[in-house]
Amino acid sequence: MESTSWVAYAAAWLGALALILLSRHLRHRKLNLPPGPKPWPIIGNLNLISQLPHRSIHALAQKYGPIMYLKFGSHPVVVGSSVEMAKAFLKTHDVTFAGRPKFAAGKHTTYNYSDITWSPYGPYWRQARKMCIMELFSAKRLESYEYIRKEEMNALLRGLFESSNTNILLKDHLSTVSLNVISRMVLGKKYTDESEDSIVSPDEFKKMLDELFLLSGVLNIGDSIPWLDFLDLQGYIKRMKALSKKLDRFLEHVLDEHIAKRKADGEDFVAKDMVDVLLQLADDPDLEVKLERHGVKAFTQDLIAGGTESSAVTVEWAISELLKKPEFFKKATEELDRVIGRERWVEEKDIVNLPYVDAIAKETMRLHPVAPMLVPRLSREDCQVAGYDIPKDTRILVSVWAIGRDPQLWDNPEEFCPDRFLGKDIDVKGQDFELLPFGSGRRMCPGYSLGIKVIQASLANLLHGFTWRLPDNLKEEDLNMEEIFGLSTPKKFPLVAVCEPRLPPHVYSL
Ligand code: HEM
Repeated sequence: MESTSWVAYAAAWLGALALILLSRHLRHRKLNLPPGPKPWPIIGNLNLISQLPHRSIHALAQKYGPIMYLKFGSHPVVVGSSVEMAKAFLKTHDVTFAGRPKFAAGKHTTYNYSDITWSPYGPYWRQARKMCIMELFSAKRLESYEYIRKEEMNALLRGLFESSNTNILLKDHLSTVSLNVISRMVLGKKYTDESEDSIVSPDEFKKMLDELFLLSGVLNIGDSIPWLDFLDLQGYIKRMKALSKKLDRFLEHVLDEHIAKRKADGEDFVAKDMVDVLLQLADDPDLEVKLERHGVKAFTQDLIAGGTESSAVTVEWAISELLKKPEFFKKATEELDRVIGRERWVEEKDIVNLPYVDAIAKETMRLHPVAPMLVPRLSREDCQVAGYDIPKDTRILVSVWAIGRDPQLWDNPEEFCPDRFLGKDIDVKGQDFELLPFGSGRRMCPGYSLGIKVIQASLANLLHGFTWRLPDNLKEEDLNMEEIFGLSTPKKFPLVAVCEPRLPPHVYSL
């Protein structure tokens, strides 16, 4: 009797399972998915993706078209590679595609998706964006920090002057300035001074941020083939855990200091930096979703990471491109001499009068967008785009790298030529879909106004104050322009260059 009921029970289970599989099969068969290469079992199309995924994906899109369906392991991925597709994903259906996939990096390095970048679409993320707009990146707050940007820019220019006529690693100088700017704005001080009581040295901190960017963008096998996750075949999870321990030690120290200062100041306390603002918000009983201590740490880390790496990477690419095409230096310096003169440095308010410098920045971001496929998004429900079905939980990549090279949009797209932007009304603020280095729509970079200010001001002053050349043993054509893929895409071999002062000596006594 007992064995009969067991058999009946098992038969019912098998029947139900068969029905589920059949209905899934029928549902999938009915779907009109975008075109794409045939996936292999288990790995899907991962065999077609190289160390530089944006390049492999671009090559595939040339075969399959501007909307393409891939499988990364068991996960569906749809790639948009044209202006029309970028508009569809980031504008028309923005709310549907405003999710983020739950990658290991978000779990291990951002307090279980408690930051802005990796938090899922919902009230917590909406509140975070509101904080960015109202508090952290308001025009007033950014303006109140202009003196910090100016002081740090002066330090950069002094440093370059002192190293003139020697081989310098430009990125080191650039990331120091952006790290100092962002640390003072976000944390209230540099924290990484070379003093004995500093909790981490500047070099160590920059290495931590480089590692964070790399690990946030890598193709971690476990994110595509979940049942292999526990093996950590590439060793990335181990690195993420080690990194997050180091970052947490630093962030704990920052928060403890800020809280102690607030207590000491009592009634007279005024928020001076972004961590102060976040801690005040965390105490607000009217907040829709409680911001916990780990949330404050995660936001703080996002702001430091977002603000440090991206602008340095962009300016390094700009100077590298110019060194390959020195004729453009001349056009920029003609403009700078005419508008600024030779007796002072460029200030942020001058940028509107420097269209050529602006064109160099845009041309650099066209060819070297910091995030070539933006940050992956996730479809929150089934949707149709261009007549194709896109099921819920599909990962979405928008290749701004491919759009920047689309021959239908750009003449000689592979050529670096800032002049193409002169007299053109194309901006980087997410409205002109042919140029989207900061993304567009709800998930667009909230720090873009700060990012663009730092890029333009550093670039303008580097060109104004110095002439640039390659080290004696290197020819223009031999300058290596390879890249590394991560959440940002820096040069594989950091640029080594030589600068010489071009303004009267007294201008350098900053
Ligand atoms: C050159 C400068 C910068 C570039 C090129 C850049 C680029 C980007 C891109 C492409 C995205 C993804 C957009 C999308 O998914 O559609 C993004 C997101 C983000 N960026 Fe930036 N960024 C820069 C500077 C900054 C700065 C200065 C900060 C903060 C201080 C920042 C903080 C963030 C954050 C928090 C997100 C996540 C937004 C979200 O998921 O809601 N970025 N950035």
